[in-house]
Amino acid sequence: MNVEEMKKAVARAALEFIEDDMVVGLGTGSTTAYFIRYLGEMIEKGKFEDIYGVPTSYQAKILAMESGVPVLSLDQVDAIDIAVDGADEVDPNLNLIKGRGAALTMEKIIEYRAGTFIVLVDESKLVDYLCQKMPVPIEVIPVAWKAILEELSIFNAKAELRMGVKKDGPVVTENGNFIIDAKFPRIDDPLDMEIELNTIPGVVENGIFADIADIVLVGTKEGVKRLER
Ligand code: A5P
Repeated sequence: MNVEEMKKAVARAALEFIEDDMVVGLGTGSTTAYFIRYLGEMIEKGKFEDIYGVPTSYQAKILAMESGVPVLSLDQVDAIDIAVDGADEVDPNLNLIKGRGAALTMEKIIEYRAGTFIVLVDESKLVDYLCQKMPVPIEVIPVAWKAILEELSIFNAKAELRMGVKKDGPVVTENGNFIIDAKFPRIDDPLDMEIELNTIPGVVENGIFADIADIVLVGTKEGVKRLER
């Protein structure tokens, strides 16, 4: 299996957790995109009834609408039964780094509240510790970006303002904020680091998702592996 096939395999496997009448948090990124499309196909075939998706981004919302998944916003539902999303890194305790797609704040808002949070990754995302390969994305209030960059130096982080592609200047999130990508030497205590970063004034949210994932479905060459906390 190549990486795209692994992504498709975990997206299909996630459908097994879906039941009629569920409110489903819809993640962002290339892996979850397959899940949203497959969910739409199942709804169209009548395999699932009364499913509503709560998107974590415009990408997820548009894809859900195109795929025939009815969408509601978080404030229109009483609860999120299950959420499905990708990740950039997964450590052995199923702590995550997320936010390559700059949707981390809405992802955390929804996934924190989900009855079950299922993560879909290919095996390249498994790491020994967080920040082994990927930086932690941090959403910040725009005017605070420079001060926060300097403040991150106490953690020995290599931090930079994320710049747009096909847009001049910095990436502006769906909440109107900037993203700083901070590469820490290594993160040994993800929960502690997640909380500490959020105490910096001007930080809106950071991409460490500690103790939130319930199940991680990993696409490997041999098939889909299931990891549970
Ligand atoms: C979006 O902001 C991210 O958190 C994505 O969920 C994450 O980067 C995984 O994306 P891929 O499935 O495209 O790797």
